[in-house]
Amino acid sequence: MNKTLWYFLLGFAVLAAAPARSEVAIADVFARHTTSLNGKWHVIVDPYDTGYIDYRGKPYDESPKISGGFALDHHPKDKTELVEYNFDTSTTLKVPGDWNSQDDKLLYYEGSVWYRKKFDVKKPEAGRRLFVYFGAANYEADVYLNGVKLGKHIGGYTPFAYEITSLVRETGNSLVVRVNNVRHPEGVPTTNTDWWNYGGITRDVMLVEEPATFISNFLVRLKPGTTNTIEVRVQLDGAARGNAVTVKFPSLNLSAEMAVDENGVAHGEIEASNLVLWTPEHPTLYNVEIFTSAESVKDRVGFRTITTSGRKVLLNGKPVFLRGICIHEENPRRGGRAWSEDDARMLLGWAKELGCNFVRLAHYPHNEHMARVADEIGIMCWEEVPVYWTIHWTDSSTLANAQKQLSDLIARDQNRASVVVWSVANETPISEARTKFLKTLVDEARSLDGTRLISAAMEVDSEPGNPLHKIVDDPFGQYTDLCSFNEYTGWYDGLPEKIDRISWSIKYDKPVFISEFGADAKQGMHADALTRFSEEYQADVYKRTLPMLEKIPGFSGCTPWILCDFRSPRRLLPEIQDGWNIKGVIGHDGKKKMAFNVLKNFYAEKAAE
Ligand code: GCU
Repeated sequence: MNKTLWYFLLGFAVLAAAPARSEVAIADVFARHTTSLNGKWHVIVDPYDTGYIDYRGKPYDESPKISGGFALDHHPKDKTELVEYNFDTSTTLKVPGDWNSQDDKLLYYEGSVWYRKKFDVKKPEAGRRLFVYFGAANYEADVYLNGVKLGKHIGGYTPFAYEITSLVRETGNSLVVRVNNVRHPEGVPTTNTDWWNYGGITRDVMLVEEPATFISNFLVRLKPGTTNTIEVRVQLDGAARGNAVTVKFPSLNLSAEMAVDENGVAHGEIEASNLVLWTPEHPTLYNVEIFTSAESVKDRVGFRTITTSGRKVLLNGKPVFLRGICIHEENPRRGGRAWSEDDARMLLGWAKELGCNFVRLAHYPHNEHMARVADEIGIMCWEEVPVYWTIHWTDSSTLANAQKQLSDLIARDQNRASVVVWSVANETPISEARTKFLKTLVDEARSLDGTRLISAAMEVDSEPGNPLHKIVDDPFGQYTDLCSFNEYTGWYDGLPEKIDRISWSIKYDKPVFISEFGADAKQGMHADALTRFSEEYQADVYKRTLPMLEKIPGFSGCTPWILCDFRSPRRLLPEIQDGWNIKGVIGHDGKKKMAFNVLKNFYAEKAAE
């Protein structure tokens, strides 16, 4: 048998034998031994997926040995070889960053873009492992290293990582990612949304080096039902699990050893009588360090309880009013997806300036910096998965997709004291299939984390023949901790004066939370308060809505729509919207509108109560 055939069969056997690579959980990534791969990446914009499928439409990576396409990052051996792409001579885009705001030609682009990063790295020593980690890529990402497929991640807002220990070489590693942001009816979100479908590798990419057995995730929180007992659960990844994990809280002078069970889990409780509980006013955080025989991981965590009692929301057992605002993950100044710590500080800084102690991070998991900065500066967060409007409720792959996004989000942010609400949906039309779908997500969230409030932006109805009488009896409300809904009287429903005349019937004896209200206003456009799109109209909606809400029994907070104007493909009024949803209280140039001060004054009064 000639040698080439022999190597081919061997290679094939090895590859055929190579297990399908699955995603690896790596939490608290910013506290680990990492090498950033951020920066300029060569890209190929590939509207026909030429790099992914052959002319018969067959994907090149259907079989373990990739048969062609851009994933191979192949260069012609000599002048005769036909190769019709070349990453080296292709243009570049910045990573992290969406492609839409980096190149006007790509503003509306939906399709595939191939990213390629070359890197050298010291091969991990024996007993060490190497991973490549992505903060997010919208919407689906096929990841390859040195011509081998690592995996496919679906969902544009959650992290994913793959092990590359056996594949990496010292020099000239070729990391190739096919990112495709085409919208799908069965997707999560589905095809119709009121936000820009930014595509690309939108968050940090890094190499993460770990020992053979490493701490893949950990949970540090108050033991449910207590304020003086810390519960810790540590998940190890790897064979040699050793026999104990040590957890230390240096500033509390507390430490504990915990045995590791057969599943690589160490679980324990630590009495902590002198804990200062986290609040927005006093966002106390504690250093925690978790040790195994091979490594240690650090984090900063706060301890607080969040519960409800009747129609009250209780933070650390005390009633709290949620003074909030909605935020999209966009940097209005730079344009495009927000992704950095500075972006988070800017957006949350504006929310603080408004007098907020709460924000709704709409409508999908924002980057990890948001909740970490919120921990530090003292703002509670509502986090959400993009189950938005008309999802395919009976499609099991859609449900699995939504469940995965939810569990990935919880795994990433479970240690953030600031995160107090998991939201499983926004404005989804009532049907049995829908409520069943959402109930499954509620059960998922409760089983993964029973210590936070579960919610969604529910539907509002009105009494037949009496549009002034609003009714909230969405059947899904029986499964949530908050009775939250969006309310647009005065904008989508009537004129601002109607706000003064409406009344409410709310079926649930739960805290009432208004997850959206608002009106469009072009920053700098001034007119009488009945002129749509003027700042006066928007301010009037705020001036009338806030006192109206105050009359609702159990009104426990609100997050008006929205902090900043944001790009939306559904907002097309020339010279007014021009592709922007302008319901922000801050314009997309960062300038504040009149409504900003109306809300700020209202929150100042609430805070003084
Ligand atoms: C909806 C929706 C938002 C949207 C807003 C609007 O309620 O939840 O995503 O942008 O209203 O119409 O401006």
